[in-house]
Amino acid sequence: MSTAIFYDRHGGVDVLRAGDEPVPAPGEGELVVANRAVGVNPADVKKLAGRFGGDDELPQVLGFEAAGVVEAVGEGVDGFSVGDEVVWSGTGAQRERSLVKAAKARLKPANVPFDQAAVLPVAASAAFSALVQAGVGAQDVVLVHGASGGVGSAAVQIARALGARVVGTASERNLDYVRDLGATPVAYGPGLVDAVRALADGLADVTAVVDTVGSAETVGQTVELLGAVGLERDGTPRAVTLVESEESLAAGIASKVSQKGALAEVLALAEAGLLTAEISARFPLAEAAQAVELVAGGHVRGKVVLEV
Ligand SMILES: NC(=O)c1ccc[n+]([C@@H]2O[C@H](COP(=O)([O-])OP(=O)(O)OC[C@H]3O[C@@H](n4cnc5c(N)ncnc54)[C@H](OP(=O)(O)O)[C@@H]3O)[C@@H](O)[C@H]2O)c1
Repeated sequence: MSTAIFYDRHGGVDVLRAGDEPVPAPGEGELVVANRAVGVNPADVKKLAGRFGGDDELPQVLGFEAAGVVEAVGEGVDGFSVGDEVVWSGTGAQRERSLVKAAKARLKPANVPFDQAAVLPVAASAAFSALVQAGVGAQDVVLVHGASGGVGSAAVQIARALGARVVGTASERNLDYVRDLGATPVAYGPGLVDAVRALADGLADVTAVVDTVGSAETVGQTVELLGAVGLERDGTPRAVTLVESEESLAAGIASKVSQKGALAEVLALAEAGLLTAEISARFPLAEAAQAVELVAGGHVRGKVVLEV
């Protein structure tokens, strides 16, 4: 048998329970991966609450990303062998062993630890996608709303790797962390626009925005800061949000679309030492509820992982 964290109805973390299930057998195009580390994301909180639609067959298992070791390989799979270390995206990652579509797995670079690899498919891939969508390059000053979180901390590092200069917003307690990531930090809140406009060395002239927060406040600040530049240039959005809302749509801010190949790109950046996640909390798989609850609070620095 193999352990997994199940939920039998939608709700809060109190509905999560550890249980056993049979060891899966891989179908055509599938791998069985013995997970070593599982990333925890706000998407887990939303899925648990039923915000991704109520059509799930219950019980379900949370978790959209993990890294581990291939234990079995199904028919028709090329490029993977038993014993390979891989990172994958999909659903149902909060388990000892997951059935994984081989097309959604990548070989893990040897120098990237399991916990670092496990947090790349969701947050870092989304950060990469948003920056590419906004056409960010060396000429840009990018403002990242929520630069201390999972997506934001990756966005700062990826934008720097693309050659851009970055202004990152966070709470007071995370300003030094954002500076260490390579951005100029500014405290979020009502004074944000004035604080950015007071920055020296051209940093006041923000040319692109990635919003990982999506509040009415950040939407308004984005519109103000991009006033002269506009929200779009030559058909390319200059602001991209990870959190679509009535306000972002009304303001004309583009919602993130997924970029094919983003996981391969962020894996390459991690392998090159240009992208690292601060793993600010680790929990054993059996304590998944505590991990999800921490992430639900919305103030995690970097990432939270489950160790299997
Ligand atoms: N569309 C997609 O494909 C996609 C992919 C990944 C994530 N997302 C979404 O993107 C959002 C962020 O995800 P994440 O993993 O980065 O979350 P996270 O790790 O919880 O980060 C949240 C960030 O928001 C900041 N924050 C909290 N309250 C704020 C406020 N009032 N004003 C400004 N900033 C505030 C936090 O800063 P402090 O900790 O310093 O307070 C932190 O930097 C979530 O809604 C997630 O579901 C979407």
